[in-house]
Amino acid sequence: MQIKVTAGDITSIKTDGIIINLFEGSKKPDGATAAVDKLLNTVISQMLSAGEFKGKLNEVAVIPTFGKLPAKKVAIVGLGKPEQFALDRIRQATAEAARTLRNSGAKRIASIVHGAGAGGISPEHAGQMVAEGAILGLYTFAKYQTKSGNSKQVDEFLLIESDTQKIPAVQSGVKKGEIIANAVNFTRDLVNEPASVMTPTELANRARKIARQVGLEIKVLGRPELEKLGFGALLAVAKGSQQPPQFIILRYWGAGKKSKLAPVGLIGKGITFDSGGISIKPWSGMDEMKADMAGAAAVIGTMVAIAQLKPKLNVTALVPATENLPSGSAFKPGDILRTFSGNTIEIVTTDAEGRLILADAIGYAKRLGLTPLIDVATLTGACDIALGPFTSGAFGNNQQLIDELIQASKPAGEYIWQMPMFEEYAELDKSNIADIKNIGGRSGGAITAAKFIEFFVGDTPWVHFDIAPTNFVGTSEKEKHYRLRGATGVMVRTLVNYLLSTSLEMNKRRGK
Ligand code: BES
Ligand code: MN
Ligand code: ZN
Repeated sequence: MQIKVTAGDITSIKTDGIIINLFEGSKKPDGATAAVDKLLNTVISQMLSAGEFKGKLNEVAVIPTFGKLPAKKVAIVGLGKPEQFALDRIRQATAEAARTLRNSGAKRIASIVHGAGAGGISPEHAGQMVAEGAILGLYTFAKYQTKSGNSKQVDEFLLIESDTQKIPAVQSGVKKGEIIANAVNFTRDLVNEPASVMTPTELANRARKIARQVGLEIKVLGRPELEKLGFGALLAVAKGSQQPPQFIILRYWGAGKKSKLAPVGLIGKGITFDSGGISIKPWSGMDEMKADMAGAAAVIGTMVAIAQLKPKLNVTALVPATENLPSGSAFKPGDILRTFSGNTIEIVTTDAEGRLILADAIGYAKRLGLTPLIDVATLTGACDIALGPFTSGAFGNNQQLIDELIQASKPAGEYIWQMPMFEEYAELDKSNIADIKNIGGRSGGAITAAKFIEFFVGDTPWVHFDIAPTNFVGTSEKEKHYRLRGATGVMVRTLVNYLLSTSLEMNKRRGK
């Protein structure tokens, strides 16, 4: 889909549908909405006074114009109460309105830049949010739907701004929003793909292909290299599978290879299917375990965006990828593994496999000297039970880093909640036979999993995101705005924001 910014008046655009807005509590329309209202013989004003439209956040009414305007339909979207207005509301409202128009058959859409006139929001941010909302909200994964699949698709999305002075800023926001939202959708595509397609080898191949396109350095370690380097945990999880494990290394050198500052390390859990292994899971919900590589997909998607946004900093992403399957050659409860770092792990359940492959990846990240470390993983059902479907858990050993990431998550519209990491929890992971065991019991399961990772991290500043709650919208959930069924692509927007603001900070400190 093409997004274009043009100067003009939304009332004179010939297209399938135009998007205008209204704040909740408005007595009468103003701005572009008032102009449209007038041409529609005040139907919007009448809807308002009759209580047929209230302007509640993401409320959408589609009004056919019957020739009163060059556009065939008008979608009016509620922005909620003005005092609660925020960047993510622009994203949500755009997504909801665009999706409603698309579902009513519109192929060409034009929109005003919501928020570009509102106090406190820059035209650049407004443009970025509208672009993100449109691209995220119109996402589909229809490649396996033989007939209905691709019939309803928007080809053109125009942003109309009447104030020509704002156009360059809106345009640059749109560019940024396109890069970020397309990276989120790339992440969603990786996750939505069935596990029999998205094997570790396929994940590596997709990473290679996109790395070539956007200009990222890539290296993939296969079984022979992993054996030589001693990735004992990753290799153990891979033992039950016919598919060879892969360890994907993506590197971005925006500050140059000679920079004295260490690269930031991103690590993503890449279990392309989690059956539980010998400790096999029950059938219910196992289909969603194709998404157990959502952390991997998120860090790859983040690198794809960063390579195009080109901030002056270095970032390296590490992705341990394997299936977790039961078979005659699978690893077993009671086994003891030796990790990349030399520490040993007692296996109590083969279903706590994510932390095992992360242990190897963290060891390797430390060998490369990456800092800080940020891992993203669909790690525990316990985190989902604790936080519910809208919030990712954050765990770490460095409050400043956690605060910076939470700050970055706000304009991203991604909820993050910090979880406790008191030292007593580490005792629950103690093993009688190895250095640590891979399960700390049912209670506090998300925390003992984070404590397990911390054991391998040591003192390096680190944050772990448990995205088991947020990575996937199940079939029973109702879709709204850009929250569509299947993969969410969670954490890409937060990580990109974080990396852009750290690079700004670093360069400020260096006086650039
Ligand atoms: N991949 C799962 C966690 C998960 C559960 C992600 C639900 C998304 C939705 C992970 O590998 C796992 O199986 N965790 C176990 C850990 C337990 C055995 C200590 C869990 O949460 O039950
Ligand atoms: Mn598991
Ligand atoms: Zn898993």
